[in-house]
Amino acid sequence: MKKTIVFHALLTLLAAGAIMVTGYCKKPAGDTTSTTTTSAAMDADAEKGRALYISTGNCITCHGESGKGDGPVGVSLNPKPRNFRNMGDYKQGSSQEAIAATIKNGVPGSAMPPNPAISEADRMALAKYVIYLQTQP
Ligand code: HEC
Repeated sequence: MKKTIVFHALLTLLAAGAIMVTGYCKKPAGDTTSTTTTSAAMDADAEKGRALYISTGNCITCHGESGKGDGPVGVSLNPKPRNFRNMGDYKQGSSQEAIAATIKNGVPGSAMPPNPAISEADRMALAKYVIYLQTQP
């Protein structure tokens, strides 16, 4: 009787140990790459910017869902809407302040429209989201 209890306890310990070891080894490999990069860059402001990018700003129709300049309207434009990842292509600057100013004033001589009706806070949030898109694959 006593022996079986000891034996069972030993089996349980072994099983728990095996689960802990496999669980420990598996976790870091898959998790770190996908979650940390995105959640770190995407704060509340960028989330707000993403909503505006799709709704009020209508940026998505020209710049596309992932900001590659391939929205349904954008594909037929010349010059083409900016692919936000091409850092060397910004004519008016790629910082948050410079992008907010671009959203306000547009880009003269192109289809990029001025948006003076969007509030300063919302333009800054939009610019934050553009900066987030700069870092996406
Ligand atoms: C009607 C199409 C259209 C819409 C809508 C539009 N864009 Fe653009 N955008 C363009 C085009 C075209 C360019 C490229 C201008 C050029 O190369 O001269 C551009 C350029 C830009 C640039 C780069 C400017 C630079 O310094 O070179 C940023 C940033 C930008 N757009 C952000 C936005 C945001 C944010 C929105 C939404 C509020 C938006 N755009 C809405 C067409 C559009």
